[in-house]
Amino acid sequence: MIDLSVDYLGIPLKNPLVASSSPLCTSIDNIKKMEDEQIAAVVLQSLFEEQVILEQRELDTGLLQGTEHFAEALTYLPDFGTYRFASSGYLEQIRKAKEAVDIPIIGSLNGISTGGWIKYAKEIQDAGADALELNLYYLPTRPDISSQQVENNYVELVKEVTSRIRIPAAIKISFFLSSIPDTVSKFADSGASAVVLFNRFYQPDLNLDSLNVVPNLKLSTSDELRLRIRWIAILYNKMNIDLAITGGVHTSLDVLKGIASGAKVTMMTSAFLLNGIPYAGAVLEGVSQWLERNDYKSIRSFQGVLNQASVENPEAYERANYMQVLGSYNT
Ligand SMILES: Cc1cc2nc3c(=O)[nH]c(=O)nc-3n(C[C@H](O)[C@H](O)[C@H](O)COP(=O)(O)O)c2cc1C
Repeated sequence: MIDLSVDYLGIPLKNPLVASSSPLCTSIDNIKKMEDEQIAAVVLQSLFEEQVILEQRELDTGLLQGTEHFAEALTYLPDFGTYRFASSGYLEQIRKAKEAVDIPIIGSLNGISTGGWIKYAKEIQDAGADALELNLYYLPTRPDISSQQVENNYVELVKEVTSRIRIPAAIKISFFLSSIPDTVSKFADSGASAVVLFNRFYQPDLNLDSLNVVPNLKLSTSDELRLRIRWIAILYNKMNIDLAITGGVHTSLDVLKGIASGAKVTMMTSAFLLNGIPYAGAVLEGVSQWLERNDYKSIRSFQGVLNQASVENPEAYERANYMQVLGSYNT
């Protein structure tokens, strides 16, 4: 029997398979199913500060019938589709999930103001979440804000939030950072317990008939994993922070590659949306079988075996072999 247990965010988990934040993690029934299928922890879908503001404004609009002002303001806010959560509903969901299952429940927050991040982070903690994922889904589009300013803002935000909560915090980042190692090491120094690599940025498409920009959410494939394992392998053991992968984890081998590069946990959403929650059992079975075949007794002993420092050809993770890669394509 292979020992699949890991520690993530200082929390013992029975294995490294975590359900990342998505609408799948909204219903308590699904969360129970996830526990039954041996998923080790669940990240709830994000609470969006805009959403809470939107709902407050809707309430205000209702109270102030006839005021045009709010209707106009609301058009600036994105269409949240399924994200119909006021913060009280979100907090209730955390309480119910905690009652229903024993696996760790990780709240997820996407704020727009420092005050909002702190307020909702504390509320999520007080509702009983075991940890908090800060979803830094932000696309800098203003030319007058430098990359240093953007990254400093992230670090300040992480400092502000982590200094005010007791539960561990994971920071979910995008790869649009000018220096990933620098920013991650600053997160580590600012109280973050983990970084989750990487948020996917959803690229809208253009409809030329209606001359409109249309949202277009495509699920991932395993191809997206390589960007993650490369960066995990580069960051591994260089700073005091747990590393987690989200994006492109679809199969047992993907989980194993993530762990080999140095991740503590690998997260899945697209694979569960495509194959259903019971697919988790098959993935974990595949992981155990592979480890057994290859004489590993535990997943911990396999963790980081292919990190950048321990491989024969560390440059393969870097640009140094750029020419070699280009040259390796057989026409
Ligand atoms: C429909 C959908 C909704 C999502 N909602 C959230 C969210 O609320 N917060 C968040 O941090 N990530 C959200 N994600 C991103 C996932 O957590 C995950 O990071 C991403 O899908 C990449 O992982 P995958 O390749 O396993 O799908 C969402 C993804 C999908 C497909």
